[in-house]
Amino acid sequence: MTDPSRGIDQCDEVPLVGDGVTQEIVRVGDTVRRPVRPFSLTIQAYLAHLHAAGFSEAPVPLGLDERGREVLSFVPGDVPREPLPPETAREEVLVALAQLIRRLHDVAEGWVAPEGAVWGGIPGMRVRNSAPDGEPLLVSHRDYCPGNVVFRDGRPAALIDFDLAKPTVDDIANALYYWAPLMHPEDRAPAFRDLDIPHRVAVFADAYGMTSEQRRVLVPAATTMIGRFHVNMRAAAERDPVFRRFWDEGVKDRLPRAEAWIQQEGPAITAGIAHR
Ligand SMILES: Nc1ncnc2c1ncn2[C@@H]1O[C@H](COP(=O)(O)OP(=O)(O)O)[C@@H](O)[C@H]1O
Ligand SMILES: [Mg+2]
Repeated sequence: MTDPSRGIDQCDEVPLVGDGVTQEIVRVGDTVRRPVRPFSLTIQAYLAHLHAAGFSEAPVPLGLDERGREVLSFVPGDVPREPLPPETAREEVLVALAQLIRRLHDVAEGWVAPEGAVWGGIPGMRVRNSAPDGEPLLVSHRDYCPGNVVFRDGRPAALIDFDLAKPTVDDIANALYYWAPLMHPEDRAPAFRDLDIPHRVAVFADAYGMTSEQRRVLVPAATTMIGRFHVNMRAAAERDPVFRRFWDEGVKDRLPRAEAWIQQEGPAITAGIAHR
């Protein structure tokens, strides 16, 4: 029960802790309050578009509160943490995630950010809005780490934390990095260590409905993405104590291992998803 003698500002704020990137996230009733960042209103415009276009598996953007914090709807369900629990290694989880991302892409396709859009990520990073042929790039989530996927009935049911959303070419590679996963076995949760990764990528590709072109470019895109993670995380570790801790606690070894692993396994993955 809310105590009416307390001001609205203090009533029932429950801290939410995720992967430790964003501080001071709280739940207030059916809403989440997050610190406003330069990109928050761009992301809210994107979320508003998703809902208007029929994708409801994301937080509803609710503007800013009386303290200037970003307000989003609370998405009910369970959010897994690292190391991923064994039940999340089932193929049906991968299938549900692929279908969820496919629906997201279908409604995001063709959306162009408002004039003056600001995106998150590493400061100073260049954002490409269109492909070489001038077509606008798909704006998508780009950060399918476990803490950003809400499960219901044992399956991915919604996505949260769109802070890294922007025009992208490697959204599918990002999802597969975390959930195939495209990582060295040493760096996977125990239940994922001995899985047949080329097979799992093929399961995802079929559930998503990847085109021949998407299948052809997946491994090159994933290889570039992992290389960029490495460069960006090193740069972020030099500037930011939270990223310094991630780096020291293992990222500095994990990313070079992932780079070597995809070099070695990439051809088998590409062969496994090639349309015959
Ligand atoms: N809209 C939401 N609905 C439900 N849970 C949320 C929501 N936003 C955040 N959370 C919870 O708070 C955690 C951290 O929030 P998140 O937005 O992912 O921040 P971070 O930048 O730290 O990853 C999430 O992993 C999730 O458990
Ligand atoms: Mg998160």
